[in-house]
Amino acid sequence: MDTDPPSLKRSRETIENDGAYIPDNGGPHTSIIFSLNDEKGALVNALKPFEDLGINMTHIESRPSKSKPGLSYDFYVDCSLTKEQSVKIIERLKATATNVSIFSRSPEKDEIPWFPKHISDLDRFANQILSYGSELDSDHPGFTDKVYRERRKFFADIAFNYKYGQPIPRVEYTEDEIKTWGTIFRELTKLYPTHACKEHNHVFPLLIENCGYREDNIPQLQDISDYLKKCTGFSLRPVAGLLSSRDFLAGLAFRVFHSTQYIRHGSRPMYTPEPDVCHELLGHVPLFCDPEFAQFSQEIGLISLGAPDEFVEKLATCYWFTIEFGLCRQNGEIKAYGAGLLSSFGELKYCLSDVPKVLPFDPANTSIQKYPITEMQPVYFLAETFQNAKEKLIEWGKTIPKSFTLRYNAYTQRVEVLNSKDSIKKLASDIKYQVSILDEAVRKF
Ligand SMILES: [Fe+2]
Repeated sequence: MDTDPPSLKRSRETIENDGAYIPDNGGPHTSIIFSLNDEKGALVNALKPFEDLGINMTHIESRPSKSKPGLSYDFYVDCSLTKEQSVKIIERLKATATNVSIFSRSPEKDEIPWFPKHISDLDRFANQILSYGSELDSDHPGFTDKVYRERRKFFADIAFNYKYGQPIPRVEYTEDEIKTWGTIFRELTKLYPTHACKEHNHVFPLLIENCGYREDNIPQLQDISDYLKKCTGFSLRPVAGLLSSRDFLAGLAFRVFHSTQYIRHGSRPMYTPEPDVCHELLGHVPLFCDPEFAQFSQEIGLISLGAPDEFVEKLATCYWFTIEFGLCRQNGEIKAYGAGLLSSFGELKYCLSDVPKVLPFDPANTSIQKYPITEMQPVYFLAETFQNAKEKLIEWGKTIPKSFTLRYNAYTQRVEVLNSKDSIKKLASDIKYQVSILDEAVRKF
């Protein structure tokens, strides 16, 4: 399948030739691609010539370089410029960046930046990771453990080689790994009845029944993925390392959750500096079985597609304060639904204490709230219901400057751009069909 717009094909050709293609004319629909090493101030230096030359940038995106993941980034800038400006900007950019290329695009293509259109397009950036799963920081509990590092490489390699449509390889977990899982499982399941939201408590016994959730068994990703598909159409995809916010959120648009498969280091079962299989399976999976929550999660993903970088960061912050650390009100009590809470014994107790501040979920404010990554959160956001949170998010999403509307077609697992008379007519016809079913059901009821 080839869903690349011509503009990206052009960019690949020019990058491969390691030279700049300068269009005959500049014009209002021009794009520039360049790569920068991950160094302090590199982007500021690269963008300075745009300001100096008075070039108006209309869209900017970044992602880890495929050639040097973790070491450099590719930048994609839409702008309007004259022929003279295009010559000068290339000259100036080449002083600080590599792989510089510039190309004109047709006006209709200019309105829509590239993003995955089909679920299989997730293969394209699955390996553009910020760090490989086997690379551990010096303060990681497993940093000096050779056996653990080799194990992490084993899991990273599974994910690195994974492609859409394949079964997720089953893993035989070691006795030590199962012991670590068991400790966490035992402690957390004591807290769930009083601290977790009702959706989590409703689904958990079903996961025990259908997916092998047990103290002495680490469930397999493929079994869970199959079960999720039956509940809400969500599926799991193994991930080899940390994805950029843009790429991670794009997965949610297709109801795909990028999941780790390794487990934290056994020396500290109640601590992990990064997501692991306990976090994913005990924290995330139960909520993805819930239809309202699944739809809320997908909305975050859909809104992120084609959004400018600053809004992707805001959406990632909303993701943090909902899917990772969200609280909700149920029967007059506050309960936890965020995976970061439901997979942490300490923070699950702390988040419902009087210590942290609890504010109402409101995307305009939530999206700009600063947060620590390695400590317990000083602030949480409270959703009245998942439906209410979703409606607020959709309304806020409409303020993001995007010149096109998207809808997800669950039959084809494809995101459709509603930018033609035909596509809008087709949507209207689908809605008419759904309304006729509703009409008949109401009459019979
Ligand atoms: Fe998470």
